[in-house]
Order: sequence, then structure tokens, then C-alpha cells
Amino acid sequence: MTPVKITQDVVEEIKSRLDIVDIASERIGLKKNGSNYKGCCPFHSEKTPSFIVNPDKQIFHCFGCHVGGDIISFVEKIDNISFYEAIIKLADIAGVKLPTVETSYEEKKLLDKKQQLLNINIFARDHYVSNMNTPGNKALKYASLREISSETMRTFHIGYAPESWDSLATALTKKGIALGNAVSLGLVKETNGKYYDTFRDRIMFPILNHRGDVVAFGGRILEPKEDSPKYINSRESDLYKKGEVLYGLYQTSKNIRETGYAVVVEGYMDFISLYQAGIRNVVATLGTAFTDKQVGLIKRYTDRIVLFYDSDEAGINAAKRSFLPLLENGLKIDALFLEDEMDPDDAVRKLGKEELENRLKKAKPLIGKIISDRFSQQYRTDELAKITKEILGYLVLIPDNVSRTFWLKELSIRSGLSTKELSGLLLNYAKNTKKEGTVTHTKVISSAKIDPLYRNVIKTLFLMPVLSNRVFDEGWDEYIPDDLRGFIQKVNNLLAQRGEMTISDWLYISKEAGFDWFESFLTKEFINKKDNDGMNFEREFTGCMVRFKMKNLERKRMDSLNKIKEGENSENTLREYKAIVQEINRLKPMLGVLE
Ligand code: UTP
Ligand code: MN
Repeated sequence: MTPVKITQDVVEEIKSRLDIVDIASERIGLKKNGSNYKGCCPFHSEKTPSFIVNPDKQIFHCFGCHVGGDIISFVEKIDNISFYEAIIKLADIAGVKLPTVETSYEEKKLLDKKQQLLNINIFARDHYVSNMNTPGNKALKYASLREISSETMRTFHIGYAPESWDSLATALTKKGIALGNAVSLGLVKETNGKYYDTFRDRIMFPILNHRGDVVAFGGRILEPKEDSPKYINSRESDLYKKGEVLYGLYQTSKNIRETGYAVVVEGYMDFISLYQAGIRNVVATLGTAFTDKQVGLIKRYTDRIVLFYDSDEAGINAAKRSFLPLLENGLKIDALFLEDEMDPDDAVRKLGKEELENRLKKAKPLIGKIISDRFSQQYRTDELAKITKEILGYLVLIPDNVSRTFWLKELSIRSGLSTKELSGLLLNYAKNTKKEGTVTHTKVISSAKIDPLYRNVIKTLFLMPVLSNRVFDEGWDEYIPDDLRGFIQKVNNLLAQRGEMTISDWLYISKEAGFDWFESFLTKEFINKKDNDGMNFEREFTGCMVRFKMKNLERKRMDSLNKIKEGENSENTLREYKAIVQEINRLKPMLGVLE
């Protein structure tokens, strides 16, 4: 793939040739609704449509989950691809030829390297598959023992690494592929200049990333052997980072979106069994607890997770370990633990598809299981306090008010503290545990949660971009936080260059500034656009600037006051204090009204 250059002109050209309504209609049912189109949101599960597409502005916004953007971000989100990839895809549909770039030698080497590595993995996959298909081999017998159909084997390219020290290494060499790269992928190992295969006598599962690239392998031993782990996975490489992929997601994402929830299992075989039985909204985490990256991937398709792990102690603990990262990312987390320590693989066989699907649909919130497990024994008071605290730490993360209150009540019954006492503690907890920087790029942040001061500055700026001049001309920039100042500077520059701001400009610079909530805010503003003529933007804007300055002055006043309190009663300090107070009083009438 030759790298292409993406310029603002190219983006506008692509957008001018396409209609977001057409592109969105290919994926979701849209009905005309006034001057807009309306349908069920593809980014969260809903029954009453709240997803709006506006053909005039070429934007979309969901009033349920707050996701929003233009045609490019629509494709990015729905296909789970990068901005760059979305542009390439849309350029192709629009028939726009993208200018290629001269890549530096280093960049080119890097790109070539990735492609080379991918080719080796594909070669290895095919090598394993062809070994699997040798009649009468052990792995084929094992597969039939575990009731893996040949269709499933084809779909997931399940293969066999033969019982040999160098089957793959030799095949690679024959093909003229240097073994160094195979070593860096973890397919081959080297000691004292001798190369040998990592995977030997194992049934092989290629691991795909969300784009469908073969980035790694998992290999299961055929018969238990001492000193040899049941499963081994490829080591981390330039293609594969542990905890960044979800096994099966590439094949099942569509079904996850359609069914409105994702069943998460731990291993390859559980995944394969469920998929084969026709339960296709499944992914596997491959034996590790959920990472933020994985949650980000899955959040593109659903906001409900059903953890379906082994119901032994190890499985329950694994589910609990995944609880926090899932909860922090705003997902609804249910869990199914079956009786008699049945694992998912057994369950399909014993219960059948219908019954299992029923139970998955009706899976209960994991928090309930955690609460009842934690309080299942008699505790000393200090232990009780610790457990209560732990549970409060979870409750504080539950976004839905009603269910949070419900669990608070449950906690009250268990802990003996009243709901009122617990609510008080929860409030404290919320203040102390407020974390920053946990936001992933996939998360939709409602603009309602943004500091109203930021929101108002950007809103007025957006409605009247020339106001950006005043920030610098009048010296307000000194009092504005860095990120906001950078943002306003960009508006200022773009205006100077081109004389206007397009929607793409706004989306682009807000992405750059890390104002992830802006996409949602902007599209909502546009779709809801009221007649803003009566509003006095200038006054509103000045009010915001004054507020920033006031914050600054207030800090100075406190510093000065502290000095005085500490006995530093010099003339200067007093004069300084007075001057600050005067300035504050002078500014007060300019504050304006903040919505
Ligand atoms: P399990 O030991 O529960 O295996 O590990 P399983 O899924 O039931 O496998 P089968 O049915 O015996 O074939 C669950 C998952 O944890 C990972 C694998 O992804 C496995 O599928 N695992 C387990 C490892 O990566 N390494 C191990 O040594 C064990
Ligand atoms: Mn199993």
C-alpha cells in the first residue's frame, strides 16, 4: 500500500462528492423526518430511533448515546478504522484519486517491514492449515474429538504445527524467507545459530486483529504433557501486543451490533464451540483480564457485556478482574456462571443453543454476584468497612442513577449502614476518586459533563469565530488554560488563512486539541440549531473571558491574604491586596450570565 497524503482540499473534495445519507443508509435503516433522517443508532442498542442524520450539514448525531460527527467519523466508527483508513475508503467510493507521498527511507522501511511480517504470518497460517489437512493426522482426530467441524476449521483457519523441530523453519527457508523476521514474530527460535519451531505438535489458532490481519497465533497442546503449557501464544511483536486484540471480534462484530450485547469467553475453544453452535456475538480475551484497549474495541459495537467464564473459582476471579476496566468505560456488565462448574464449551453441548442463549440474554449484573460473594461470611467491623469501601468504589462508577440506587440499597442491607449514610460516603468517594486520563478515543463524552466555561467559550466561538481575535488583541490569553488557548489560536490561524471555518475544520482541530466531546457537541448544536440571532455572543464571550481572569485574580487574592495572615503586614502586601480587590470589583459587572 503506497502511503497517501491527506490535505484539507482532498477531504473537502471527497465530502463534496458523497452524501452521508447514502453512506449511512447502506448500514442502517433511515427514515425521512422533517429536514433530517432518523434511524436506530448503530453505536448503541436501542429500540426507539434517536440517531439523526442531517443532509444539509452532512453530519450525524445520536441523542441517545451522544455519538456524532461527519461522514468520515461515521465510517471510522462503524468500520472501526482510523481516520486515514476512512479517507482511503471514502476516496475510493467517491472516485477521488489521492496524491501519494514521498516517504522517507525510514518510513518506507517500516511499512515494508510490517507487510513482510504479515506475509510471514500468512505463510505460517497456510503452512499449519495444510498440515492439518493431511489425512489421518493426530490434530484432525483431536479436532473431531472436540467436535470442531471442517467448516469451522476453514472459517478460522485452524491448523496444525506438526511434531517436528523445524517444519516451519524449513518451509520458510525453502520459500527464500530469512528467518530473522520469523524469530521476531515468535514463530521460530534461535539458539547458537540453530533455528527451531516454537509451536510443535500443537493445534493452531491464528489470532486476527480487528482489521482481519493475522497478527499472532495460539497453539494448544494435543495431549497434556508435563512441563509444557496447555496453550502458548506468539510473543509480542511489531504486529501484536498482548491485550490489544480480542479473538474472534473480526468475524463477530456485526453480530454483536445486531444482538446488542457481546458474550465474552476466556479461551479459543469456548469461542469456537459457541460460534459453531450459532451463538455468534462472542469474543475471547484469551485468558487475561480485560484491558482498556480491548474495552475500546468492543465499545464500538455494544454497551452490554455478558461475561461467560468458567464457574469455578478461577473463572469467577477472572470475571472480577475484568469488572473495573469495563465499568470505568461505562459498559453494562452482566455475568453468567453456570451450575456444576460447567464451562462454556460443556454448556453448549449440555444445554443446547436455545437454552444457553436464553440464559445469556437473562444474565444478571456482575455487581450483584460480587456483593453477595463479598458479604457471604461473617466479618469483623474493620473488614466490613473495607468491603463496603470496595463496593462503593464500584458503585461510584455505575453511570445509571436508578441501578446505582438499587445497588446502594442492597449494600445497605448487607453492611448495616443506612442508604443515607452510604449516599454520603458515595459522594465523598466520587470526589476523591475522580480520575483523569482514563478516557479512550472510542468513548463518547457527553458535552453536559464538560466544564460550562469551556463549553461556552467554544460554543460562542463556534457561532462567531471572529471572536478569537479578541482573545489575543485584548490580552485575555494570559488567563486561559493552555489547551483552550491552543485551540483558540488554531481557530485564529485558520480564519486568517481562509476567512472561514468549515465543519471539517472544527472537527479536525478539536480532535487535535483532545476535545473529544466536541464532535458530539457540535453535531448536536447543528441539528438542534435554534435561531441564535437574539443572542449577544460578544457579551457572552466577554463574560467567559472575565471568568477566567477572575479565577486567576481570586488565586492571587488568596495568596496575598495568606501572606497577610502569616504576619507579613508590609505596605506593599497590603497595597497589592487592595489592588487585586479593586480589580475584582471592577470586573464583576462584566461577568454576564453563564447558562
Ligand atoms: P483453560 O485452561 O480454561 O482452557 O484456559 P480451555 O479454554 O478450557 O481450553 P480447552 O477447552 O481445555 O482446550 C482458558 C484460556 O486461557 C488461555 C487460553 O486462551 C485458554 O483458552 N490460556 C490457558 C493460556 O493462554 N495459557 C495456558 O497455559 C492456559
Ligand atoms: Mn475447556
